[in-house]
Amino acid sequence: MMLIPAFTFRMSLLCVFWVFCALEPVCASRFFNLFSPDLSVQFNIQLTADGEIRYSVYADKKSLIKQGKMGFNLVGQGPLEKGFRWLSIDTSSVDERWEPQWGEERQLRKRCSRMVVHFEQTASGKRLDLECMVFNDGVGFRYHFPSSGRQEAFIVAEELTSFPLAGDHEAFWIPGDYDTNEYAYARTPLSQVHASQELWPHGIGFRSQISDSTVQTPLTMRTADGLWLSIHEAALVNYPAMQLDIDRGELILAAHLVPDAVGNKAYLRLGDRTPWRVLLIARRAPELLTNRIILHLNEDPAEGDFSWLKPGKYMGIWWEMHLGTRSWAGPRDEGDSLSLPHGATTGSMQRLIDFAAANGFTYLLAEGWNRGWEHGDGGWSERKFSFTEAYPDIDLPRISQYAQERGVGLMMHHETYGAVTDYERQLPAALDLMENLGYKGVKTGYVGRLVPRGEHHDGQWMVNHFLYQAQQTARRKFFLVSHESVRPTGLHRTYPNWFSSEAARGNEFNAWSAGNPPEHETILPFTRLLGGPMDYTPGIFPTHAAAGDSFALRRVHTTLCKQLALYVTLYSPLQMAAGNVEDYERHPGPFQFIREVPTDWDSTVVVDAVPGDYVFTARRQKDSADWYVGMITDELARKVTLRLDFLEPGRKYVARIYADAPDAHWQTRPMAYKITEQRVDARDALNIRLAPGGGCAISLRAAE
Ligand code: NOJ
Ligand code: CA
Repeated sequence: MMLIPAFTFRMSLLCVFWVFCALEPVCASRFFNLFSPDLSVQFNIQLTADGEIRYSVYADKKSLIKQGKMGFNLVGQGPLEKGFRWLSIDTSSVDERWEPQWGEERQLRKRCSRMVVHFEQTASGKRLDLECMVFNDGVGFRYHFPSSGRQEAFIVAEELTSFPLAGDHEAFWIPGDYDTNEYAYARTPLSQVHASQELWPHGIGFRSQISDSTVQTPLTMRTADGLWLSIHEAALVNYPAMQLDIDRGELILAAHLVPDAVGNKAYLRLGDRTPWRVLLIARRAPELLTNRIILHLNEDPAEGDFSWLKPGKYMGIWWEMHLGTRSWAGPRDEGDSLSLPHGATTGSMQRLIDFAAANGFTYLLAEGWNRGWEHGDGGWSERKFSFTEAYPDIDLPRISQYAQERGVGLMMHHETYGAVTDYERQLPAALDLMENLGYKGVKTGYVGRLVPRGEHHDGQWMVNHFLYQAQQTARRKFFLVSHESVRPTGLHRTYPNWFSSEAARGNEFNAWSAGNPPEHETILPFTRLLGGPMDYTPGIFPTHAAAGDSFALRRVHTTLCKQLALYVTLYSPLQMAAGNVEDYERHPGPFQFIREVPTDWDSTVVVDAVPGDYVFTARRQKDSADWYVGMITDELARKVTLRLDFLEPGRKYVARIYADAPDAHWQTRPMAYKITEQRVDARDALNIRLAPGGGCAISLRAAE
C-alpha cells in the first residue's frame, strides 16, 4: 500500500483517501478517510494522540457525526478504548446486484466503498478490527474481535460507541425499554427528549423503562438543513439490541446495550463480530423509505432452498378476542361453561376456512387453540402453555384436513407469555405436530416477563432465541412471524422464512388502550420498518360505534380507506386481513381491495412522504404490470394531486379508487367511502382528498 505523507491522495477507483501526518509508523495522529462511490458521504477514522479511535461522518460536505467514540469495556479485562496502534488497512469497492427471496424490489444494487482497519492495543496485545462501508446514502461500521491466540471467551461490560451529532435535530422517538417497543412516537428536539413522560397511555402491563434520556432505535431525525438521518443497527446476531442514551446538553448519543440478568451485555469469543452500527442519510424524506443499506449489510441465506416459501395474506380468529367478545381460553373438559364463548373451535375454524378459501387467502391463524390460556398470564411462572394439546372443542386433525382440501395453509400460534425455556423444551414436539398436520408457519408471542427470570426481550439471550426459532422453523419449511420480539435489523435477508415481526405498536392497541394516534402509521415506515417488515395487522373496518368511554374508542383510529391503504404503505410479505368476517361480508366493495392486494413486489416508488404527516406509496406487483397505491394521512385532511408517471408509458390501466367520502372523518364518519373506476395512463394525475385520519387505496390493473 502506498502511504502519502502530508497531503491527500485520491484513488478515484476506490474513492478512498488516506491522510497521514508522517511516514513514521508510530506517529501521534492519523486519519483514514473513506468516501462513498459518488463522493458525497465521507467516513473518517482518526487515531488520537492517546491511541483512541474516533470517527466522523460528513454528507454533502456537512458534518453529521463529530468524533464519535469507539471501543468497549470488558468484564475483568478493563477498557478496550485507548492505546491503539494501527496495523494495516484493506480497502475495496463493492458493486453487486442481488435478489431478495421476496421484498419491495425484485433486484437490489449494493454499491459502496469498504475498508477494514486493523488495530492493536499496544499494552495488552488485544486486536480490534473496524469494518466500514460507505454508501451514497449512509454508512455502516462494525467491530471484529480477531483471534490472536489469547483467551478465547470474553464478556462485554459496555460498548463505547457514540454518535455526537452536529445539531439539535428534531427526533421521532420511543422511550428506551428493554422489553417492549409497543409505544406511540414522540417528536421533539433531541435536547427535549424526556423518555419517562407518559406520551400516549400505554395500555400494556409489562415494560421496563430505563431512564429519562434513553431512546430506542431506529431513531429518525431531521436536521435544520433538511437532511433526514436514522440511526439503527443491521444483522443483530448473538449480541444485545442497542438503545441510545442522549446527552441533552452535548447532543451526544451513546450506545446503551440491553443487559442480561446479571448486568453483563454480551458473551463473545475471539473471532466474533458485533452488529453493524448504521447511519442512514436521505436528502428528501421519501428517500429514507427506499434506503436499503440495512438489507445490504446483512448476508444471503447461509444454506437452504426457500422456493417453498410463499408470501401471502392470512385471516384469523383474533380480533374478537382483542375486542373482548370471545376468549382465547377454552373449556378444560368438554361441556365446561365459560364466561365468554371460546374463539377457536372446530366450527368457527371451519367457517373461517370456507371464507378464506372463497376469497383467496393463503393462510389462516387460530389463536387460543391450545391448553394454558385458562391460567391467565401465569405470573412469571415457568410452565404456562402446552404447544401440543388442543382444547377439547377443537379437533385439530379434522381442521387440518378440512383446510388442506380447500387449499388454505394453517398457521400455528405459540404464545409463550415469556416462558421461553419451557417453550424451547417443547419446541421439537410442537414442530412435529405442525409437520404432521401440514401447518405452513407459526406466529409466536412473548407477552410479559421472561423466564429465564431477569433476561430481557432485547438482550443477547433472547436475540439468540429468536434466531434459533428462525433456524428451527426454516429446517422444517415453516415461516415465522414473531410478536413481542426484538425489532428487526434486516435479518429477513438471511432468514427469509422469518417473514415479519411485530416489535412496535400494532393495530391491536386500538382494541383495548387509548389506541394509536392517527399519525402513528405515517411514522412507522420512517422508524420501525426501516429494520424490516411489520405484522401490523391492518384491514380492520371501523364499523362499531365509538364506545365513548374515557379510556378508549375501542376501534381503529382511521377511516376505512386508510385501513386499505396500509397494505401498501406498511410493507410486509405476510399481511393479515385482521377484521371480522361479518364486516367483510357486509362491505364487499372495500373488501375487494384486501382480497386483491399482493404482498410481494417488483418495484416500489415512494411518491411523497413526511413522517408524522403523510405517506404515499406505489408498488408494482411481482411478475405483473399491475400497480397498487396506498396514501395515508395523519389527523389532517389533505388534497393531493397524484401523478401517475410511475406507470409504464403508453400502457392503459383501469384504476379502481377507494377514497374517503367527502364527509369522512376518523372520529365521526370512519366508514364513509366512495369507490370509483376510470381508465388512466402514465400521463394522467388523480385528484385525491384524504379525510382527517384518512387514506386512499388504488389498484391499477394493466389493460390488455
Ligand atoms: C399480543 C400479540 O401482539 C397479539 O397479536 C396476540 O393476539 C396476543 N399477544 C396473544 O398472543
Ligand atoms: Ca403485541
